[in-house]
Amino acid sequence: MPKISKKGQMMPESPIRKLVPFAEDAKKRGINVFHLNIGQPDIKTPQIALDAVKNNTIEVLSYARSEGSESYRKKLTAYYKKNQIDINADDIIVTTGGSEALLFTIGSITDYGDEIIIPEPFYANYNGFSTANGIEIVPIVSSIDTGFALPEIKEFEKLIGPKTRAILICNPGNPTGYLYSKEEIEKLKALVLRYDLFLIADEVYREFVYDGMQHHSIMSETGLDENAIMIDSVSKRYSMCGARIGCIVSRNKELIQTTLKYAQARLSSPTYALLASEAALDTPQNYFDEVIEEYVKRRNILIAELNKIDKIKVSTPKGAFYCIAELPVSDADDFAQWMLEKFSDNNETIMVAPASGFYSTKGSGKNQIRIAYVLNKESLIRSVELLKLALEQYNG
Ligand SMILES: Cc1ncc(COP(=O)(O)O)c(C=O)c1O
Repeated sequence: MPKISKKGQMMPESPIRKLVPFAEDAKKRGINVFHLNIGQPDIKTPQIALDAVKNNTIEVLSYARSEGSESYRKKLTAYYKKNQIDINADDIIVTTGGSEALLFTIGSITDYGDEIIIPEPFYANYNGFSTANGIEIVPIVSSIDTGFALPEIKEFEKLIGPKTRAILICNPGNPTGYLYSKEEIEKLKALVLRYDLFLIADEVYREFVYDGMQHHSIMSETGLDENAIMIDSVSKRYSMCGARIGCIVSRNKELIQTTLKYAQARLSSPTYALLASEAALDTPQNYFDEVIEEYVKRRNILIAELNKIDKIKVSTPKGAFYCIAELPVSDADDFAQWMLEKFSDNNETIMVAPASGFYSTKGSGKNQIRIAYVLNKESLIRSVELLKLALEQYNG
């Protein structure tokens, strides 16, 4: 039989999706599964974006420009300006989702065997993008006990070596909900300048920041033009995960030219989705105000309910819509599967993402899960009740 590549064999399964067959089986048995495992918001997509696709007069569904149309990129610069990010249309490469932006970026700045330092736990697909590019993730542990704050800079320095190409952060963080402060960003800036590294910031959750806090983009820093690369996406901002549109933003011309070659190789992002994404930029502010208010309510309910359960440790997210919870179990992978296979209450159960897949240090996060608070309040309260009952039965 022809052989599958080592790289292919090493591609990790998504911890967010790997339990799907067990959830499907549970549903076939008539069980209602509350999905806390995936960041698929139930928030309505702005009508203006949907209408742009419905009402268009396209007769030939042609390729778009590889880097995205000038009109879209120009309109994006206005959006970024409102977010204290001053860039030109030429600093943007439009991609097919933030996922492709990450793939192209890593591909453009690393060679086989190179290393990228990432605070863990991190967005699990960084593992997949790294494996696909033949590079190593060097994790630096951030702890639930500090709310997943930026680890000490001296700890980063211990990990920097001749193969280090970049530091990658997710801000606000998936899966931690952590929001990096301006001071933390400035510490990272000093570090990457000292060692001549790229600083990649995945800012796809920029809008989702709570309690009156401010998001601080790496692109708002001065003196970082050659080093800073921002990853963005319309998926979460406009609840348009299915559009598959994102972008790479950098003032580093060579980086942009290189990622453009990747973009040319895949010709273009989907034309209808580009139409919707451009129109979405006219979404009124009150859409976001309502969405943020809803997420704050959900977060507060989730954290309050989780804190009522004995022996659960959870850190309050400041942004995004996830939290990591430490459970009184030794193997959260087993527990999460058990909840789908063996547990139900009134024909209901929950699906969560075991957190081990968000770490690359072996054995880390074994007793943690990631919960996405993308369901309405009633479903969240019921879900936490189910978690409590499941823990009692599993441990009993
Ligand atoms: C942190 C982070 N980055 C990137 C992505 C990729 O998003 P997309 O490819 O839908 O733009 C996601 C999706 O969940 C994410 O959570």
